[in-house]
Amino acid sequence: MEIQAYNGSMGEWRGDAVLLLLREEDCLTLPSLPGAEAVRLLAERKDFSGKKGSSLRLPLLEGGIKNLYLMGLGKAEACSTAGVRDTLAWGLRMAGRQRNESVLVPLSHLEDAFKDGDPSPSAILGEAAGLCGYVFDKYKEKKEGEYEPFALKEVFVPGLVPEKARQGQIFAAAQVAARALANEPGCAISPAGLAENAAAMAGELGLDCEVWDEKRLEQEGMGALLAVGSGSANPPRLIHLTYKPEGTAKRKIVLVGKGITFDSGGLDIKPSNFMTTMKGDKSGACAVLGVLRGAAELGLDTEVHGLLAAAENMPSGSSYRPDDIVRARNGKTIEIDNTDAEGRLVLADALCLASELKPDAIIDMATLTGACAVALGKWRAGLFTRDNALADALLASSLRRGEPFWRMPAEDEHIEESLKSPFADMVNSGPRYGGAIFATIFLSRFVEKSIPWAHLDIAGVDFMDKEWGVYSRGASGFGVRTCLDYLTR
Ligand code: BES
Ligand code: MN
Ligand code: ZN
Repeated sequence: MEIQAYNGSMGEWRGDAVLLLLREEDCLTLPSLPGAEAVRLLAERKDFSGKKGSSLRLPLLEGGIKNLYLMGLGKAEACSTAGVRDTLAWGLRMAGRQRNESVLVPLSHLEDAFKDGDPSPSAILGEAAGLCGYVFDKYKEKKEGEYEPFALKEVFVPGLVPEKARQGQIFAAAQVAARALANEPGCAISPAGLAENAAAMAGELGLDCEVWDEKRLEQEGMGALLAVGSGSANPPRLIHLTYKPEGTAKRKIVLVGKGITFDSGGLDIKPSNFMTTMKGDKSGACAVLGVLRGAAELGLDTEVHGLLAAAENMPSGSSYRPDDIVRARNGKTIEIDNTDAEGRLVLADALCLASELKPDAIIDMATLTGACAVALGKWRAGLFTRDNALADALLASSLRRGEPFWRMPAEDEHIEESLKSPFADMVNSGPRYGGAIFATIFLSRFVEKSIPWAHLDIAGVDFMDKEWGVYSRGASGFGVRTCLDYLTR
């Protein structure tokens, strides 16, 4: 989709649709925009008053414009940039599905909704435009009459800052790439398939990509990742992507992603209603791939590494078992209490490797615990870190990009106790209560203490049951824009 500045007068614009986002206060005081007169009349008649979530389409406007879309943002005091982004995506999606090829989006009347430090209106528009059209429908028959192809091709914006819009579009494309990969079912993407995808992306963008197969993993002492992958016909992989800026890098960040291409639970098999959507257990790895794509396309001045720990967790005669004791890359032994607590195992080895790269910070992304989803719901993800500066930076990025994270405890002496094993250095799973904190403390044993580290638990938020705002049904790519924002700052 092309986004361009519109420099002509509002009344002279000739295209398919106009999309107007309105706060309640705007409806009676709208400056001279196309449709302003209609908006005032509708507001007086109380037919449209800008309520949050309300929308109205007025077809056949004067001057040959086919559709005017009015979208409510709610009360001005409660209107956030996240609300603007979601509403833009919703309106553009609607316009695109209703056969509009070009749409004019005035934004200047919303300027005071943007605070210092927010992404600019142009950047938000770039994100919304890039995210609104994606649906996972490649395996579905496109039946005539039922299927409306997404028609939107051009978005015109008065006062657009093209450079900012382009940045927003890169953020969106990074997230769409993560969604598209995470949506692929387990039969389509194995750990080796994930590696192929990473290698293809690396080729396209000029990144380094190194893939370790099961033989190499053995030599490298990655016993935890190997154990998790041992039950599957599709062997595990460790994928290492590197983005290096042109000049000398300002800093070095390592991103680590959980890449379980399907999580059946292994021998501690999941009940069937918990097993569906577990193709999404590779979402962390897919998000890391997305962030690397974005980093390269933005040409960031930070060196960024992506480590994807890829395995399929399956029950079979060759599976790892409860009671097994496995050795991670840093030499620590782990007694397996539950084969369904596999994510922390694959991450353990990857976090050891991440620490060896001596970065300025490590961030891991993982659909790690049901407990995190129980605590925070399906729309807010967990941020676990002992580093206050890193927490503040990530929460600021999260707010800027409208991906809510909530800081959770990363230390607890009582939970620490429950990691003890009589036979090994630790167990991989403990009591139900505080399960997400247990997992974090477990991971911390594999991170070099002096390196600032944050763990993002995206279980629950990785998969949307319905279309809303910038999200389509299925994989969300949650966390991609937050991490990318963090890297740009
Ligand atoms: N992949 C799951 C966590 C998950 C749950 C992700 C729901 C997305 C939505 C993880 O591997 C898992 O099975 N965790 C267990 C850990 C337990 C056995 C200690 C869980 O959360 O139940
Ligand atoms: Mn599991
Ligand atoms: Zn899992």
